Amino acid sequence: MAFRIAKTLGGAAAIALMASSAFAAEKIEVLHWWTSGGEAKALNVLKQMLEKQGITWEDMPVAGGGGEQAMTVLRARVTAGNPPTAVQLLGFDITDWAKQGQLTSLDEVANKEGWGKVIPAALQNFSKYDGHWIAAPVNVHSTNWVWANKAVFDKLGLKQPETWDDLIAALDKMKAAGITPIAQGGQPWQEATLWEAVLLSTGGPDFYKKAMIDLDKDALGSDTMKTVFDRVAKLRTYVDDNFSGRDWNLATAMVIEGKAGVQFMGDWAKGEFLGAGKKPGDDFMCFRFPGTQGTVTFNADQFVMFKGKGSTAPQMTLASDIESPEFQVAFNTVKGSVPARTDVSGEKFDACGQKGIKDLAEAAASNHLLGSMAHGYAQPASIKNAMYDVITAHFNGEYDSATAVKELVSAVEDAK
Ligand code: GAL
Repeated sequence: MAFRIAKTLGGAAAIALMASSAFAAEKIEVLHWWTSGGEAKALNVLKQMLEKQGITWEDMPVAGGGGEQAMTVLRARVTAGNPPTAVQLLGFDITDWAKQGQLTSLDEVANKEGWGKVIPAALQNFSKYDGHWIAAPVNVHSTNWVWANKAVFDKLGLKQPETWDDLIAALDKMKAAGITPIAQGGQPWQEATLWEAVLLSTGGPDFYKKAMIDLDKDALGSDTMKTVFDRVAKLRTYVDDNFSGRDWNLATAMVIEGKAGVQFMGDWAKGEFLGAGKKPGDDFMCFRFPGTQGTVTFNADQFVMFKGKGSTAPQMTLASDIESPEFQVAFNTVKGSVPARTDVSGEKFDACGQKGIKDLAEAAASNHLLGSMAHGYAQPASIKNAMYDVITAHFNGEYDSATAVKELVSAVEDAK
């Protein structure tokens, strides 16, 4: 209602109306973990869009990439009977909150706007629960990317690595030149992001499906899985000594500044490069983790609306704004992700964004669009966390590869 009035009235009248108490009541509290430079810039697109419609934005940022800390805060707020109006959520966390009956149905907006026709089925599996829309997908990110410093590659005469052996050869050259080859952050979700790219590269999409999505015991305990851990241990030797506890965006900054050669990270890393004024192709390169071209391990940010005491009108406005094609372009060109709708033109996206859009369409068509384990799109939090524990313990040298395989099998079994 307020949205419509603001849209049809001229500036001064709209401002006068916004100052009235009825209008001021339209506010929305948004819990999210978009606190890095690139993330904050992207979020601002949404904030400004809402504010133009007379909805006050109450920001509730909880720092911590991947959202683990945000999920703890959310749980506390819900337990205290005071949930935020809107919350950034991923994958199985959405389903879990829907199961608990905490989420506002978005059917009213989704059905009217025909979301079902334009949002990829792989996302709808999480945006809907029991036949009802309960989440508005903002974007599609994916995790099997490499972000490389172009000047480092040029200086050392390196080409984009296509295979595991190419990758190792490139990392060796960087090491010999005194550059930290891999910029790595030190948090379980970041180690899991690297690990799942290696798993996909080593075993291929069918193995990924069996091990990460079906939790097939043979796949989890296989020789291929041992090779995955061996390869991750090899990559660990190219990481500097200070990685422990490092935030992902500080690792990206190492690549931006040419202190490191590459980072294995989702395409939110591109938001940091862009924020630093860097251009794809000139200053940095984006390519799929060697051996994974054709498959996309996706991670889509979605906003859910918690049931509360106030009117649901601002929640519906937010949901509708998020799915508007204009927002999808304005936000995702800054964030590094690609649109959550299949009917949005890629024209305004840079080369990495256009590659992301093409890769996503191809992966969806060939059944190779697979949920990221590291970001809660393959398994619920309990199993994801059990996997994290093993991956991190191995990354930190507590387990050798054979032990890690055994621990993985039993940790998953216990968490089921
Ligand atoms: C992911 C999220 C991304 C991102 C990243 C780092 O979980 O989906 O949007 O920005 O964490 O914070």
